[in-house]
This record gives sequence, structure tokens and C-alpha cells, in this order.
Amino acid sequence: MRTIISLNQNWQFYKTKPTDSTGEAVTLPHTWNAVDGQDGGNDYHRGTCWYVQKLSRPELENGERVWLQCKGAAMTAEVYLNGEKLARHEGGYSTFRVDLTDHLGDNNELCISVDNSDNDTVYPQKADFTFYGGLYRDVELIIVPAVHFALGYCGTPGMKVTPVVDLDAGTAVVTAEAWVEGEGSEKNTVSFTVAGQTQTVPVVDGHAQAAFILENVHLWDGVDNPYLYTATASLSSGDEISARFGCRKFEINPQKGFLLNGRSYPLRGVSRHQDRQKSGNALTLEMHKEDMAIIRELGANTLRLAHYQHAQEFYDLCDENGIVVWAEIPYITQHLTNGCANTLSQMEELIVQNYNHPCIAVWGLSNEITAASTVNEELLENHRALNELCHKLDSTRLTTMADVFMLEIESPILEIPDVNSYNLYFGWYLGDLEQNDEFFDEYHEKYPDRAIGFSEYGADANPQYHSVYPERGDYTESYQCVYHEHMLQMIEARPWLWATHVWNLFDFGADGREEGGKPGQNQKGLVTFDRQLKKDPFYLYKAAWNQTEAFVHLCGSRYVDRTEDVTEIKVYSNQPEVTLYVDGKQVASQTGHVVFKFSVPITGEHTIEARANDCHSVMQIKKVEEPNPNYTMPGRAPVVNWFDQGDDDPTCFSVNDKMADIQADPKAGAIIGQMMAKGASSHGDVAEAVKDNPALIRMMGRMTLLSMLKQAGTSAEQIQQLNRVLQGIKKPQ
Ligand code: GCU
Repeated sequence: MRTIISLNQNWQFYKTKPTDSTGEAVTLPHTWNAVDGQDGGNDYHRGTCWYVQKLSRPELENGERVWLQCKGAAMTAEVYLNGEKLARHEGGYSTFRVDLTDHLGDNNELCISVDNSDNDTVYPQKADFTFYGGLYRDVELIIVPAVHFALGYCGTPGMKVTPVVDLDAGTAVVTAEAWVEGEGSEKNTVSFTVAGQTQTVPVVDGHAQAAFILENVHLWDGVDNPYLYTATASLSSGDEISARFGCRKFEINPQKGFLLNGRSYPLRGVSRHQDRQKSGNALTLEMHKEDMAIIRELGANTLRLAHYQHAQEFYDLCDENGIVVWAEIPYITQHLTNGCANTLSQMEELIVQNYNHPCIAVWGLSNEITAASTVNEELLENHRALNELCHKLDSTRLTTMADVFMLEIESPILEIPDVNSYNLYFGWYLGDLEQNDEFFDEYHEKYPDRAIGFSEYGADANPQYHSVYPERGDYTESYQCVYHEHMLQMIEARPWLWATHVWNLFDFGADGREEGGKPGQNQKGLVTFDRQLKKDPFYLYKAAWNQTEAFVHLCGSRYVDRTEDVTEIKVYSNQPEVTLYVDGKQVASQTGHVVFKFSVPITGEHTIEARANDCHSVMQIKKVEEPNPNYTMPGRAPVVNWFDQGDDDPTCFSVNDKMADIQADPKAGAIIGQMMAKGASSHGDVAEAVKDNPALIRMMGRMTLLSMLKQAGTSAEQIQQLNRVLQGIKKPQ
């Protein structure tokens, strides 16, 4: 048997090199950026900090070994025992171990230095999330017999279980492998037990393997039936380990999208960062479980666990809940010339440590890596090396990558992973919502034999902000609803998108951000950073994805003070019919799918109630003369619908036409040309960047002139003036 002893207690923490004075007493999991990493200013502490604890030598018998196990030390750790440096580990998200046995005295001082400072070799270095530092997951001692299952290689679990399912026969062939370390391992045997069957085999060159046939196999079938088997391996030396596994078949088809166990199973879900308000990335099992409960309420069937390896406990929860996972390493935003080795070591640890999890469907090579780097041979070679490593370590899974929106769809890098996915933010950072539809339709038409996914999309929203005229960039909950309603419709019309992941399920720590009224946070979450508030769009997706719990949700419950005479009451529900009551009186009923909109005249204070079957939702609103200033982000003028697009003559050009259509017309194009020439002089770098990037040119051509002008901060008056000029130009018949 093996013994695991927790070392989470009794640490002395030092923000600098340990001194004779006592440090700060801390318990793991711990991060030193729990506060300064989430309050904005991008000034959180980055450097080398130290964790020190006194360690007495455990009782050992018959050559037992003592290993230190660290499950997460961000970002680079060094382990010292009694002043002797025993190990260095570069990568803040994976388990690593150190054999302490031969260095232990009766009483010892264990020091672990952890560094999260800038450097040019360990990823991540440039990204939109806080690089928290600390021993933020468990630290343990593992005591094993002299001959034991492997501990040293890449933080391995010691056993690898490969189930191969034959759906037609209803069987699975399960290959169990184990690796053994220690003097005399050749004299040992390993007994594997799978589904009640046991085979005992010799250890040869430190390796043992057995194959089992499971008849009438019980499939791991996603959220409906995530059945898990357990494989155990027992060494004649007495060591024993186990690994859960699931029998399932994943396929990604360019036309059909994702298939689970032979049936269409579009992956529709969200992304998650591993952090939380006030805790940073030092999460407890209870916090992981609470996140999973929220994911199950949402009804997501997939998770992109961005942008790095997550805790074993969370992959375990995904196995148990049938959530299909995109796992990835933090090869992100900017390619580092000296970082290739680190991408390979982080990917090797990710796969070796997580191979057995049935929930994992794909290995993500990189995220938006061309955002700040050109596609050159070095970058391509790094991706080829990663892709080959993935297939060498795991012949059962596909590779993917998340591409930034301006990466041309013709780029050679897209030919490296098995499947691709794009991060698009049209309708948030730039452009119009329809450009998301156009992008995927163009890609799918040009590459019908290439699977494509939607790895990120989202819009920031502070649930305090509301608007009767929601618009891109206003950080209102109202616009986040408009945005996601469009995206949900777009996705539902394209089942060939193999996976779609909302960015993000939770607001998360991004200390470089100072926006939306919450410095230090990225607020694209459907749920707030503290998990206490589910924003309205959470219920949009719940209505679309969760068919087990009937509900109805009134949007805008935080939009109490309303200036409009007739207000829109929006309801999300997974029921086919919704009835609306105002002050106790039934006013309307609607049948529909997910989104139900009603127009309600308001004059004073009102109780609004939505009912669907036995479920109901109630809120209070009131008519006011002046907009509530708390509903508008400081520094942003309250949005008025200053530009009524209803008056336009559709036979003439207007600012609502697409740039490419306007520029194609000699007269209208000349007017825009003059405007662009004037703009380019002040935005020369933008013009230059666009000139060299056909994807950006194509993307801007699809934008309406209005969204371009708003993006450039043009005033309403100037836009109206330009529109009047364009309205004087007939469109070609
Ligand atoms: C990118 C990036 C994310 C980031 C997101 C955003 O797509 O992959 O890490 O948080 O954009 O800007 O919100």
C-alpha cells in the first residue's frame, strides 16, 4: 500500500528570501495575489516567494521511499531540503514530484521557492488573465514500498488505461498499462483488475500490461449517463493504485460536427478560468464542486478548461458529470523564441497526467498565438512539434487550437492541428453581430472538409448597468442579452460547429483591466466572479440547454427605474408558452423558443410576473422621468437612440450599409475614401496594419460604416451629417 500525508498545514511564507524571523503562517492552497491580483492596476506582486516548513523524517520500513508531491506551484518552483536544491519545475499548472528519501535527516527544513515573474521561457507571459503566484494546490508526501508504481516521470498517475469501444458489438477492449520503479522491480508481478476480471502479469523493463474484453459495455454517455469503471493495479511488493476510466467514442466530422458514441452530440458550453473573487486560484474542492453545480444548472455539455491544465479534482468532476472537455496548455498570445521546450514539457505533463479522464476529447495546442506573433517557420515548427507529441503520447484523441479572429482562414498554421476553432468577438470588440455568421459560413463553404468550432465569444456586462438602447461596448446586462440571443440563434442554425464555448462562464481576474466599473476583472462571465449573481444571459443558455428543470426567468429585474413609456419585458424559458401578468392582471401569452418579448406600457410602480406551467418569475419596476445614473458606466454618456435608422431611403446609401458595398460605388466610395484618407493620417498604424492583412480587410469590408464610425469614436452629429450625404446617392439597381 502507499500512504499519502498532507503537507498543507504549518507553512511559513516569505515574500522574499527566508530570514531568521518567522514568516507569515499560511495554509495551502495559497496564493500571494488573492487580493492584488484582482483589484486592477496590473501591479500585482510578481517575483520569487518562499514557503518553509519543518519536516520530521517519517517512519520507513524495508527500503520505503518518500516522495514530495506538489499539485500546483505557479509558475516556476525550486525544492530545497536542508539547504540542498533537489528539483526545479517550470510550469504553473501541473503536478510534479521529488524523491526526498536519501536526503532526509531526522529533522528537516523543506523550502519551496515559487516564482511568477516575467521571463522569456515559461508560458504564460502575455494574456488576459492574472498570473497568480503561489503553492495554490495541495502539497503532500507519498510513502511507497521500495518497488512501487512510477512517480518520477512527468507526475504520472503510474497507470494508463485505454478503452477502445466497438459500438456495433457493444464491447470494449481495455488495455491497462503500468510502470514500475525501484530496485528489484523485475522480480515483481502486477495484478490488474478491470470490471471484476483480474490478470496477473510480470514486470518487464519496468512495464506491465494486460488487455480485457468488456461485453455489453456500459458507455460513458455524456451528461445523460457518464458511467465510470475503475481499474486497479496491485504490485506484489504491496503498492496499489487505481484509475477510473470511461468507455466512449468521440468523433468530429466536418459536416456533422461532434458525435458521441455514434450519435450527433453538438458540444455546446462554456469556458472556465480556475479562479474566484477573494481566493485567486487557490481553490478548495468545495469551490470546484460549486462551479460544477452551476455548470450542470446551465445545462452545458462541454467545458473549455482554459488556458492551462486545471486541477485533477475538476477533471474528475467532469468525468463524473459527463462534461466533454477541451484541455490545453498556456501557449498563448505571443510565441517565445526560448519557449518551445516549455510548451512541450507542459503538454507532456498535461497528457501524461490526464490521459485516463474520459471527459477529455481534445488537446489544445495554443490560444490566439498569432495575436502578437507572425506566422513564421519557428511558430509553425513549434506547433508541428506539439502536434506530433500529442499523437505520440495519445493516439486516441484529436488536437485543436483556438485561433484569433484576424488569423486568415488560409493560414498554413490551420493545417497543423486535427481540427480548428476560432475566437470571434464581432459585436463586442468590433463590427456587427452578423459577422460571426458570415465568418463561419465563409469558412465552411471554403473548407467543407475541415471541422470548425467556436472556441470563444462573449461580451462584458456589469449587472449594475442597463440601457433601453443597448449597444456594443456599453457593458450593460441589456446588451449582453442582445449579444447572446444573436449568438445562440447563430449557433443553433449551424450544428456542424463541432464545439462552441461561451467566453466565459464566470467573470475572472485580469488585473490589467480597468473597465466596466470593476477594475481587475474581465466581466464576460454569465456569472459574477464571486458566483453570487447569475446574469440574465445565464438563463438564456439554461433555457436552450437545460431540459430537465422547467423554469421561467424575467430579464431586467435589476433595471427597476425605467424612463420609457412602453418598456420591453423579456423572458427566457425552456417552456413553450409564457404568460405575462402586470399588477396581477394577465396581459399577454406567447408561444415560442427560449426568448419571449412583450411590450408593456408603464406609468408608475408595477409588479411584473411571468408564468409558464407551474413556474413563475416576479419583479418590480417603475416609470421615472430621469435615467438612473447608476445604470450607466461612469464616463459613458447615457446611450440614446439618437439615430433613428427607420427614416432612411433604402434605395440610397446610408451608414448602415457595409463598407465593401459603399466602397464599391464610385460616388459613395469617393466620400468614404476622403474620410478614410483623413482618418489614416491620424491612425496611420491602423491603416498600415489593415493593408497587410487580407483577413482584416475582408473583416472590415463586412462591417457597416456605422459600426466603423462608432468604433472610431465619431460623434453622432458627424455620423448623421455623413448619412445625409450618403442618402443623396442612389444605390446601383
Ligand atoms: C481572447 C483570449 C481570452 C480573453 C478574451 C477577452 O480571446 O483568448 O483569454 O480573456 O479574448 O478579450 O475577453
